[in-house]
Amino acid sequence: MSSLPRPALAVIGGSGFYDFFDNDATQVEVDTPYGKPSAPIAVGEVEGRPVAFVPRHGKQHEYAPHTLPYQANMWALRSLGVRRILAPCAVGSLRADWGPGTVAVPDQLVDRTSGRPQTYFDGGGVHVSFADPYCEELRGAVVKSEVEALPLKAGGTMVVVQGPRFSTRAESRWFAGQGWDLVNMTGHPEAVLARELEMCYAAVALVTDLDAGLEEGDGVHAVDVFAEFKRNLAPFKELIRASVAAVDGTDTCDRCRVHTGVALPFELP
Ligand code: ADE
Repeated sequence: MSSLPRPALAVIGGSGFYDFFDNDATQVEVDTPYGKPSAPIAVGEVEGRPVAFVPRHGKQHEYAPHTLPYQANMWALRSLGVRRILAPCAVGSLRADWGPGTVAVPDQLVDRTSGRPQTYFDGGGVHVSFADPYCEELRGAVVKSEVEALPLKAGGTMVVVQGPRFSTRAESRWFAGQGWDLVNMTGHPEAVLARELEMCYAAVALVTDLDAGLEEGDGVHAVDVFAEFKRNLAPFKELIRASVAAVDGTDTCDRCRVHTGVALPFELP
């Protein structure tokens, strides 16, 4: 471990991302006060930079969105030196003009999850600013890395539902009626935990389906979502690789450095 370069950048994504490293990644076992992360953290090189990778759902997809060890994942990354995180994910679309194969880089988030631990600060007194949940610098790096095969939307509001079920048509129409654009099951509390640990974070959302309120068939089915994600995996990885190369700097940006001057109950890892 001591010979490993510090990975200032991380990617949290599907297990299909393991092979996006340029070299043989090192698997690092990390333990945290919140238990073990979804899997050992892979640290390897992408576009000449040391990058950490954690498969969000585990190596065998053993964690459902509501059972994921979100706190352990983010803590483990920070403890390895990560300061900037790209978070590719699959999403349903709440608007017909953003069909499957579209990539969105959302700028807002709505939390419709329940019962997920979403803070490291149970003791009170620490309240992070979350008005802008995603890092503008990272979002910019992704937007300028657009790849030809995947039309890119620079913005959008992502509503995060508890899952693991998909939404009803009525819920989905309600979400769309609010002006929200995307629906997903894992974007929260990932983003806010990154903010609490002063790590820049940007979601990169690949549309896999039109959500139930829009599609005119028999609803959203996981098998179709997985198949669609797989269909676009190669250009999606290309986009994430290009985004890694486009990220400027290895430290938290000023806007995501939220605890400046605040006395914290413990040191950040
Ligand atoms: N992930 C991919 N598609 C989704 C959908 N329609 N709803 C929630 N999460 C999703």
